[in-house]
Amino acid sequence: MVLARKHLIKVAPYQAGRPIEEVKRQFALRNVIKLASNENPLGPSPKALVAIKKNLHLINRYPDANGFYLKRKLAQVFNVSLANIVLGNGSDELIDIIVKAFVEKDEGIITSEGTFLEYKIISQVHGRKVTTVPLRNFKYDLEAIKKKINPKTKVVFISNPNNPTGTYVTQYEIEEFLHDLPEDLLVVFDEAYDVFIDVDDFPKSLELVRNQKNIIILKTFSKSFGLAGLRIGYALAHPQLVRYMEIVRQPFNVNFLAQVAAEAALEDKEFLKKTRQVILEGKNYLYVALNKMGLAYVPSAANFILIDVARDGARVFRQMLKYGVIVRDMQQYGLKDFIRVSIGTKEENERFIRALKKVLQY
Ligand SMILES: Cc1ncc(COP(=O)(O)O)c(C=O)c1O
Repeated sequence: MVLARKHLIKVAPYQAGRPIEEVKRQFALRNVIKLASNENPLGPSPKALVAIKKNLHLINRYPDANGFYLKRKLAQVFNVSLANIVLGNGSDELIDIIVKAFVEKDEGIITSEGTFLEYKIISQVHGRKVTTVPLRNFKYDLEAIKKKINPKTKVVFISNPNNPTGTYVTQYEIEEFLHDLPEDLLVVFDEAYDVFIDVDDFPKSLELVRNQKNIIILKTFSKSFGLAGLRIGYALAHPQLVRYMEIVRQPFNVNFLAQVAAEAALEDKEFLKKTRQVILEGKNYLYVALNKMGLAYVPSAANFILIDVARDGARVFRQMLKYGVIVRDMQQYGLKDFIRVSIGTKEENERFIRALKKVLQY
C-alpha cells in the first residue's frame, strides 16, 4: 500500500550533482573535483565571508523576515523598489513559490523538454499539468511554446541562458514571443547564469518587469558569488505579483547569514570580475581541447558546457568518477549521448580533459 498522494507516485526525484565526499568514500579517493553543479570554482565571495564571520554571534536571533537590508541593496543595484523583490531559499524555492501562488488546480505550466528539471518536478509535486516542448538546435523553441499556450496555461518557465545547453534566447525572440500573449499568463525568466553573458542581444528583462505585470525574473547568488551552500536567490516582479509570493513564502525562508553574506557580496565587484574572467578563460581552454579531441559541444553563454561524447553519457559519467572527476550525466534531460561539465579553475579544467581522454581512450 502506498501512503503517498497519488499524483506523487509518478514524479521522478531531482538528481543533484554527486557530492565530493560521497565520491571520495565510494572510490577511496583522496582528491576529487566537482564540475557538476555549475558552482563558482573560486569559492565564496571574500566580502561575503567577512560578513558571515562578523555576524556569526548573532545567529541566536531569527533572521529579518522581510530581509530589509538585502532588499534595499538589491533595490539600489537594479534601480527598483523594495516592493519589486522577493527573497528565496535559493531560486529553487522561488520556483516552488510561483507554482503555489499562481497556478490553480486545473491550470498548468509550459517549459522546454531540455531545461532545468525543477520547473517540471515542482509543478508535478503540486499536481499541476506540465507541458514540455522539444528544444530546437539546443535552444528554447519559443515559437512552438507559444503554439502550445491555451487558456489553462498559467506559467511559462524560460531558463535564460538555458541549463543544461548554455544557449540563450535573444531580445528580439522574446519580443516576438511576448507579443499578443494573454495578460493573465506569467512568463518567468530564470537568469541564474546571467553574469556570464557577454553578448549585446541578451533580453532586457528588467525593462519588462518595469513595464508589464506578468513577468518574473529569477536570479541567484549561487553561481555568481559562490554562495550555493547558503541558499539564497531572489525574484524581481511587479508589486502585485510580489504581494502574493510574499504570502506564500515561509517567514524565515532566508537565513540570517545568507542575508548578510548576499548583501556584502553585491559589493564584491572584484570577485565578480575575477569569476567572469576565470570562466571565460576556462571556456576557451575547454573549447580548444574539445576541438582537438574532435568532440562536438554546444557553445555556451554560461559557466558550463554540454558535450556530445557520442556514446552513452551516463557510462562516461561513471567512468570519470573513478578518476575523481564529477561531471553531470544528462539521462534525466533526455540527452543520452551527452555530459555537462561546469567550468572550473585552470587546474580543474586540465584534470577534466586528462580524465576524459583516458575514459574515451584518446
Ligand atoms: C536554471 C537554474 N535555475 C535555478 C537554479 C537553482 O539555483 P539556486 O541555487 O539559486 O536554487 C539552477 C541551479 O543549478 C539552475 O540551473
